[in-house]
Amino acid sequence: MERITTTIPQAEVDRQLQYCREIARMNADRGEAPLAFVDTYGCQQNEADSERIRGYLRQMGYDFTTDEEQARIIVLNTCAIREHAEQRVLGNLGALVHVKRRNPEQIICLCGCMAQEAHVAEKVRQSFRHVDLVFGPHVLWKFPEYIHTLLTQRGRIFSNADDPGSIAEGIPVVRQDKVKAWVSIMYGCNNFCSYCIVPYVRGRERSRRPEDILAEVRQLAEEGYHDITLLGQNVNSYGKDLEEPMDFADLLEQVNAIPGDFLVRFMTSHPKDATHKLFETMARCEKVAPVLHLPFQAGNDRVLKVMNRRHTRAQYLEKIRDLKSLIPDIVLTSDIIVGFPGETTEEFEDTLKVLEEVRFDALFTFIYSPRVGTPAAKMDDPMPREEKLANFNRLVALQDAISEEKHAAYIGKTVRCLLDGVSDDPRYDLTARTPGNRLVRVTGDREALGQFRDVKITGANKWSLFGELA
Ligand code: SAH
Ligand code: SF4
Ligand code: F3S
Repeated sequence: MERITTTIPQAEVDRQLQYCREIARMNADRGEAPLAFVDTYGCQQNEADSERIRGYLRQMGYDFTTDEEQARIIVLNTCAIREHAEQRVLGNLGALVHVKRRNPEQIICLCGCMAQEAHVAEKVRQSFRHVDLVFGPHVLWKFPEYIHTLLTQRGRIFSNADDPGSIAEGIPVVRQDKVKAWVSIMYGCNNFCSYCIVPYVRGRERSRRPEDILAEVRQLAEEGYHDITLLGQNVNSYGKDLEEPMDFADLLEQVNAIPGDFLVRFMTSHPKDATHKLFETMARCEKVAPVLHLPFQAGNDRVLKVMNRRHTRAQYLEKIRDLKSLIPDIVLTSDIIVGFPGETTEEFEDTLKVLEEVRFDALFTFIYSPRVGTPAAKMDDPMPREEKLANFNRLVALQDAISEEKHAAYIGKTVRCLLDGVSDDPRYDLTARTPGNRLVRVTGDREALGQFRDVKITGANKWSLFGELA
C-alpha cells in the first residue's frame, strides 16, 4: 500500500485557469454575467469540492443561483454512501430533462462520488441523455477544460476512469460561509470497511503537504474565520504518504500555533488510528475544540470484524476512557450502522450497551444500505426490514434520552459560543455553536453574528440548547 502521493504539476492547474479566462472572455461578450447552480449532496468533503467548483465557475465569469431555470450550467455534486442519497440525485437529475427542454443551451453536469461509479455513468449515458458532463472526484481539477470543450464543440463527456487519485493545489475557492471554513487535509481512504463505497470512488489516501495546509489556515485566520474544520475520511492516518512523513497530532499542533481567534475541529477519525498522542495534543492545544467524532459503527466484536473495522469494542471503550481522563468535558459523537448483513438483534444490543457506557452527546444513525461492488453487498442478509427498523427505533430512543439529559446539564451555565447564523425559529434571533459544536438558539442583538460571545443557557431539549446573549 505504501506510495508517495502524486501532485498535479502547477502548470497543469495554470492551464485550467487559462481555460477559465477564455470562458470568461466568451461570457463577457454576451453581456450580463451568466448564472450557475451548484447543488451539493453528501458529506463535508463534497461541500469542500463544491467550493472549488464554484471557485472555478467564478473565474469563468459565472454568478450563482439556486433557480434551475435561470442557470446556464447546473452541477449536481453527488454522494453514493447510501441508496437513499442516490435515489434523490437520480430523481432530481431526471426532472432536469424538462428544464433543459426549455433551455436547450444549458449544460448539465453530474460529478462527485456517484459519478465515479461505472454503473451510474452507464445509466446516465443510456437513460439521461440530457446530461452533458459526468466526471468523478479524481478529475475535478479539469472542470474548466471540460466546460470549455462543451461550449466550443458540444457533445457529451464521460470522465470517471479508475484512479488511485492525486492532489491538485491552487484551485480557486468560493466559500459558502464567512465564519466557518472547511480545509481538506487529505483525500481518499485505504480502510475498505466492508459496507463502504468511499474507497472505491475516492481512491487511496493522499495527504496535502503541511505547508499548503498551514498557509490556507493562516489565510483563513487573517480573513477572520473563527471555526476551521480539517477534513479527511480518516484524518488519523494523515501524513503517512508524504515524502517526509508526519502524523496528524503534529499537524494539529502546528495549526494550533497559527495566530488568530479561531477554533479547530476535524472529521473524521477512525478509532483504530486515534492515538493517545492525539488525545494529549487535543488536551494541550487551546484552539482545538473539545469534541471528537469517533464512529464505532457496531458494538459487537463479530460484527466489527465482518465490517473490517479492525478494532474491538473493548479497544474502542479503552480509547474513550483515555480521552475522557485527559479532557473530562469532551463532547463525543459517533456513527452507527443498524442491520449490517447477519447482525442479530442480540448482537445489535451490544451497540446499545456502548451507548449506555459512553453516553455520546449525539449520534448519526443509519440503516445498512447495500452498495454495489462492496464485500458486504454479497453477504447474506436474512433480517427482515421491520426488525431492522424496530432496532433502529430503539437505538434512536435511547440516544434521544441521553442527548436530552446531557443537554439539560448545560442549563444555568454561561458558555462562550460562536454566533454562526440567523435562527429560522422566529422566537430566537440567532443560532450559535458551543465549542463542542452543540447547537444553541439565542435571543439577543443580531449585531453579534459572526462573533464569539458569552451565552447564558436557559433551556434545552434533545436536539439543541436555548439561551440569551450574556
Ligand atoms: N470516513 C468516515 C465515514 C464516512 S461515511 C469514517 O470512517 O468514519 C459516514 C457514515 O456513513 C459511516 O461512518 C457509516 O456509519 C455510514 N455508512 C457508510 N456506508 C454505509 C452503508 N453502506 N450503509 C449505511 N451506512 C453507511
Ligand atoms: Fe468508509 Fe471505512 Fe473509509 Fe470511513 S474508514 S470512509 S467507513 S471505508
Ligand atoms: Fe458521500 Fe462521497 Fe462523502 S459517498 S459521504 S460524498 S465521500
